[in-house]
Amino acid sequence: MRVLVTGITGFVGSHFAEYALGRGARVWGSYRWRSKTENIEAIRDRVTLVECDLRDVSSVQHLVAVADPDAIVHLAGQSYVQASWKAPAETIATNVIGQVNLLEAVRARGPRAPRFLVIGSSEEYGLVHPHELPITEANPLRPLSPYAVSKVAQDLLGYQYFKSYGLPIVRARAFNHEGPRRGHVFVTSDFARQIAEIEAGRREPEVLVGNLQAVRDFTDVRDIVRGYWLLLERGEPGEVYNLCSGRGWTIQDVLDFLLGEATVRPIKVREDPARLRPSDVPVLIGDASKIRAALGWAPEIPFEQTLRDLLQYWRERVGRPDG
Ligand code: GDD
Repeated sequence: MRVLVTGITGFVGSHFAEYALGRGARVWGSYRWRSKTENIEAIRDRVTLVECDLRDVSSVQHLVAVADPDAIVHLAGQSYVQASWKAPAETIATNVIGQVNLLEAVRARGPRAPRFLVIGSSEEYGLVHPHELPITEANPLRPLSPYAVSKVAQDLLGYQYFKSYGLPIVRARAFNHEGPRRGHVFVTSDFARQIAEIEAGRREPEVLVGNLQAVRDFTDVRDIVRGYWLLLERGEPGEVYNLCSGRGWTIQDVLDFLLGEATVRPIKVREDPARLRPSDVPVLIGDASKIRAALGWAPEIPFEQTLRDLLQYWRERVGRPDG
């Protein structure tokens, strides 16, 4: 199978590419000229990279023509919720227009249209009432950030292109996923990196935090990409699937676990107002019954292991001269 991974140099893209290579796929990946390639160092000589600006129609047409894929997993995008308040138009343009350009390039292939996996998010559910937990795919979408609105648009575009043109499009709504290579702006990496820097003597023993009351449903990225692979292979076109663990952690729980793993004691905790959001989604706990019943997917890696692996990743990075 020829697979095109948009955003291959990113956190999830790099893990997905590794998994796909392990399954015997031939992998093409899109990247932007300024993308760092450190996440794909280990597989660099086994994938074909194609430079592409997804907001440019001709660039996307060229990408799809060169890769000539049987399947596309569309992972490129602006993925940081916090940044979407500062750059709402940029977030909408990158995420929505990028996907429209890809879908149009796919549509132009007529009967040779590849299978296409739309990457949605639990953020689409946004404001969820207590009686609606755990969240199924039928829950109303009440997005609370420009990022979440962009993901709703991507999700519904996938539905619309399936309905209008019969394209083989499957939609995923992934809840939070973490692990080695996670970008440093996201909460697990943010805390783990600060702790690794404290351990290395590079920072005072104090961790800066935002809203610790939020509840999130975390899964290891390596389990999530296995789910994406199954959806790409055998997901039902037109359908949408949650990927999640079904267990909620407060951000305070995450912080406490990481502080418990730290080799330095005591470490102080201080709220940084810059880390608070105009509207933070209070609780996201998902129900993955649909994908479990359809494809037998369930997470296998305990989140405690994910957090240990992530802390180790940051200890190694912080220890490097360029860390
Ligand atoms: N980043 C960050 N930094 N978040 C913090 C901090 C901090 O210092 N302190 C508390 N938080 C809280 C945030 O307010 C939020 O409630 C939670 O930790 C998780 O924040 P992020 O890790 O930034 O992730 P997210 O939930 O906003 O979004 C991630 O998951 C989505 C799936 O639900 C991203 O990966 C999205 O791209 C993805 O769609």
